[in-house]
Amino acid sequence: MSSLSESTPASAPGKVILLGEHAVVYGQPAIAFPVSTLRTRVTIRDAAQLRVTSAIWDRTYQIADAAMHADPVYSVLSLTAEALGVPIPIRHYNIESDIPAASGLGSGAALSAALGRAVAAAAGLNLDPAVLNSVVFEVERLYHGTPSGIDNTVVVYEKPVYFVRGHPIQLLHVQAEYTFVVADTGIRAPTRESVADVRALMVTQPAATTRAVSAIGDLVARTRDALAVGDVTAVGRCMNLNHTLLQQLTVSSPELDRLMQVATDAGALGAKLSGGGRGGNMIALVNPETTSTIEMALRAAGAVHTFVTVLRAGMETAT
Ligand code: MEV
Repeated sequence: MSSLSESTPASAPGKVILLGEHAVVYGQPAIAFPVSTLRTRVTIRDAAQLRVTSAIWDRTYQIADAAMHADPVYSVLSLTAEALGVPIPIRHYNIESDIPAASGLGSGAALSAALGRAVAAAAGLNLDPAVLNSVVFEVERLYHGTPSGIDNTVVVYEKPVYFVRGHPIQLLHVQAEYTFVVADTGIRAPTRESVADVRALMVTQPAATTRAVSAIGDLVARTRDALAVGDVTAVGRCMNLNHTLLQQLTVSSPELDRLMQVATDAGALGAKLSGGGRGGNMIALVNPETTSTIEMALRAAGAVHTFVTVLRAGMETAT
């Protein structure tokens, strides 16, 4: 018989990439921010066996089963416990998530971060965010092969970032408030596959692919400057140009292109796919008063879900 723990669930947010996905894998900067209203939560209960459940699965783990080392969920448990210097706390960890899976919103990283925090809570220990960040990055490698590290960084620190692979975290400073409509194509975003395909393009068409990747990096740098002075129009323009470059990298899809066009026709200041692409979500920068018109247009055009999220000054210093 298991009993409910009194503790608040451990949690982590979703994320959106504003600009720079894919190019970030090749050392270009990217900008992303957390979506704190969408969260993954993990509740801990007493249990006789190590058990992890979610809405879609129920797994009981036998400790020291070698096959488990390739399992991302087990890896979070073992890597976090190892970092804390304790055996994996035997509990029932129950996962609940608002973040749609495989949609470019960081569901995998959020699951790992929330579960890592739950392990630390079960052990009664503090977990340094830098340590959690490296655990989540290790597990992202199991999901995605060669991740840049942007998803785990945004999700673990829950701050807007200007991210460059392998560099210390740079928080993003913005002036003013930017409202985004996020729309889901309802199609799984196969991030591992799209990242591998861009890597193949780097081999088959190195000159054009390198040009597109560095042009994306330039747009990201311009966007950082525009965000710092509150130039909403320039941010929107950079988003549109970034989408075109992502099309060249073959990671868009007819559904994403259509939603991007619909958002623009309905008055968005800029729009692009967000995340791995080929499915998942697109984001549109909008005037706050046009939000519901644009959401309605996107739903009428086939978006299975839409929501509104905001990037504002001060998010980088909020605790
Ligand atoms: C996935 O959210 C973002 C990609 O750039 C991959 C990565 O950075 O690891 C497509």
